[in-house]
Amino acid sequence: MRRCILITGGAGFIGSHVVRLFVNKYPEYDIINLDKLTYAGNLANLKDIEDRPNYTFVKADIADFDTVYALMKERKVDGVIHLAAESHVDRSIKDPFTFARTNVIGTLSLLQAARLCWEEEPAAADAPRRLFYHISTDEVYGSLQMDSPLFKESNKYEPHSPYSASKASSDHFVRSFHDTYGLPTVVTNCSNNYGPYQFPEKLIPLFINNIRNRKPLPVYGKGQNVRDWLYVEDHARAIDVIFHKGRIGETYNIGGFNEWKNIDLIKVLIDTVDRQLGRPEGADRDLITFVTDRAGHDLRYAIDSTKLKEELGWEPSLQFEEGIEKTVKWYLDNQAWLDNVTSGDYQAYYDSMYKGR
Ligand code: NAD
Ligand code: TYD
Repeated sequence: MRRCILITGGAGFIGSHVVRLFVNKYPEYDIINLDKLTYAGNLANLKDIEDRPNYTFVKADIADFDTVYALMKERKVDGVIHLAAESHVDRSIKDPFTFARTNVIGTLSLLQAARLCWEEEPAAADAPRRLFYHISTDEVYGSLQMDSPLFKESNKYEPHSPYSASKASSDHFVRSFHDTYGLPTVVTNCSNNYGPYQFPEKLIPLFINNIRNRKPLPVYGKGQNVRDWLYVEDHARAIDVIFHKGRIGETYNIGGFNEWKNIDLIKVLIDTVDRQLGRPEGADRDLITFVTDRAGHDLRYAIDSTKLKEELGWEPSLQFEEGIEKTVKWYLDNQAWLDNVTSGDYQAYYDSMYKGR
C-alpha cells in the first residue's frame, strides 16, 4: 500500500523545500500539498516538480474542517507534515486575529480531521506508522539574555509576540491531542531559516533585494538582536529524519548553532551582494538606516539541538558563509521571482509598514 502524506503550507518558503525533498526522494509516496495561497504562498516555488505523478496540489484553507476531513478520508492520508501558518511577526502585530485563525484554529481543524479519520479506519498491522508532525518555532520559548544558555526542549513557553503566542497555542493543542486521544504526534521547534524562496518581508531576502535596488535597509533599534540562522535545506533534511525516525510524543529543537547579531549579519549581506554585483565591497553600507524598534522585539533566540543530534544523528551540513553566498546568488539570479512576489498588494503593505518608522 502506498503512503499518502499531506503537507500543509507547501507553497510557502520552508514547505516548498519539504515538498520538493519528499517528492524527489520518495517516488513511492503520494504527496499532497494543501495550501491556501496567501500572499506568502506561490506555486512558482514548485515549478520543477509540479508535473510529477506522485504530487498533487490542493488549494484549501486548513481552518476549513469539512474540506480537510473529506480530503484526508478520500485520499487515506497516513501522515501529516503541518507547516501552513501566518509566519511574520510584524504582520502579527498589525493583525493578530488572522494569526489566531490560521495558526490556532487551522491547526485544531487538522488535528481533529486526522484523529477522526484515523480512529474511523484503524491502520493495518503491517502499515507504516501514522504521524501528525507539527512544525513550530523557537520563538515560543521567548527571549534569551545575551549570556543565557541556549533553548532546550525543556524550556518553558514564554511567547511575546502575537505570532509566537499563536504558535505556542498550536503546540499545546498538538500535545493535548497526543495526551487526550493518543494521536501520534511530534513537534519540532526550529530557529530562523534562510535560503531560496523566502518571501522578501523577512530580514535576509528583504535586505538582499533592497541592497540590489539601493533602497534603505530598515534596521530595527540598534541592530543588536541575535538570531540563530539555519539553511532551509538543512531544516528540510531534519524534517525528513524526524518524520521517519522521531519518537512519538516527543519534541525536538532544530537549530544551526549559528548566532548572529543583526547588524553584523547585515554587513555580511551588503559585502556579499556588492561583491557578487561587481560593486566596490561595502559600497552600500550607507544604506543602513536605524528605525524605530519592533514592539516587544525579542533580544535573542538560540537553539540547542543536541537531542536531535544524539538521538537521530542530524546536524547542519552547510557553513553559514557558504549558505549566504548561495542565497545571495539565488536572489540575484531570480529577480523575476522577486518582482513577481513583491508587486501589487505586497508593495502597498510594505510602504504602509515603513512610512514614518
Ligand atoms: P511562509 O509564510 O513562507 O509560508 C506559509 C505557507 O502557508 C504559505 O504557502 C501560505 O499560503 C500557507 N498558508 C497560510 N495560511 C494558510 C491557511 N489558512 N490554510 C492553508 N495554507 C495557509 O512560512 P515559512 O517561513 O515557510 O514557515 C513554515 C512553517 O515553519 C510555519 O509554521 C512557521 O511557523 C515555521 N517556522 C518558520 C521559521 C522561519 O524562519 N521561516 C522558523 C521556524 C519555524
Ligand atoms: P525576521 O526575518 O522578521 O524574523 P524573526 O523576527 O521571526 O526572527 O527578523 C529577523 C531579525 O531582523 C529580527 O531581530 C528583526 C530584524 N529585522 C530588522 O531589523 N529589519 C527588518 O526590516 C526586518 C524584517 C527584520
